[in-house]
Amino acid sequence: MNPIRHFSKASAPAKVILFGEHFVVYKKPAILASIDRRVYVDVKVRNDDKFRITSNMGFHGLFDARKRKSLQSKPFRSLMQPILTAATDAMNEFHANVGLDINVRTEFPYGVGLGSSAACSVATIAAVGSLFGKLSKKKICGMSLNAEKLVHRNPSGADSAICTYGGLMLFSKDNEIERMNSKIDLQLIVANSGIQRTTGKLVSNVKHLLEEDPDMFRGLASLSESITMQALKAIKGKDYGELGGLMTLNHSLLRRLGVSINALDNLVEILLRNGALGAKMTGAGGGGCVVALTNKHSINKIIKSIKGYETFLSHIEYDGVVVE
Ligand code: PMV
Repeated sequence: MNPIRHFSKASAPAKVILFGEHFVVYKKPAILASIDRRVYVDVKVRNDDKFRITSNMGFHGLFDARKRKSLQSKPFRSLMQPILTAATDAMNEFHANVGLDINVRTEFPYGVGLGSSAACSVATIAAVGSLFGKLSKKKICGMSLNAEKLVHRNPSGADSAICTYGGLMLFSKDNEIERMNSKIDLQLIVANSGIQRTTGKLVSNVKHLLEEDPDMFRGLASLSESITMQALKAIKGKDYGELGGLMTLNHSLLRRLGVSINALDNLVEILLRNGALGAKMTGAGGGGCVVALTNKHSINKIIKSIKGYETFLSHIEYDGVVVE
């Protein structure tokens, strides 16, 4: 199929996991929120069959058609490979095969638990798809999950879902996503430890723990489920004090699971000491970001208290992926 246009642009939001990370891989529920920082992907049809990727994240490359799926050990593999796969799969959907210039611009740091790889693949699929026709969100989400499998072998699909649909959602593998319609506005402060880590490594550490001590793992998993379901109630009842307390409790659980590190525990402590309603690491852990829930009048004090780390206030965004 020939393109119906030669240039397109799409964007997808960053995300935080408020409850349930890691256990969501094992079919327990998680609560996710997309936040108002985005990845923008521009695509332009080339007059050869190559893919050129450029980005503001420090990676770029030129790939010929045969090599699109064989990026073995290049730096930034975990970011570039899903983009290559996403673009190729989106074209395959329309039985198309053209070369592309793909430019990726992100407003948030990558590799720190904010969903950069899923947001990149979601925005790439939407942008490439719109050169040829229209892809439903369901399709985009499924294709992104395919690309995410290259980042780590057993993704829950949570990142792809939240970056596609946006908003606040209860997610569990194999079940329908429950989107929370009431557009509540949570004040979320994100602080980045600056320590990059790979999701796959942490997911595999957790798998070892499950193999070594299945009873302990099952206990933690059922606690995570119960915290998540209580949090859902607190969100629906707009009980933010309760919600914050549950976030902090979830952090303790993740410490017990062994995925937090001192830098994250310290950040959580500083956030709580300066008035956050609750705080926790978010995503796979081992580095990356913490997220705190706060009320309006504590925002400035909390942000000032975090010295030497990238820290920003964010709000939930409800659009998900957008073709511009
Ligand atoms: O890649 P991150 O840091 O956003 O973490 C993904 C969340 C996990 O639950 C650890 C893995 C998954 O596939 O859900």
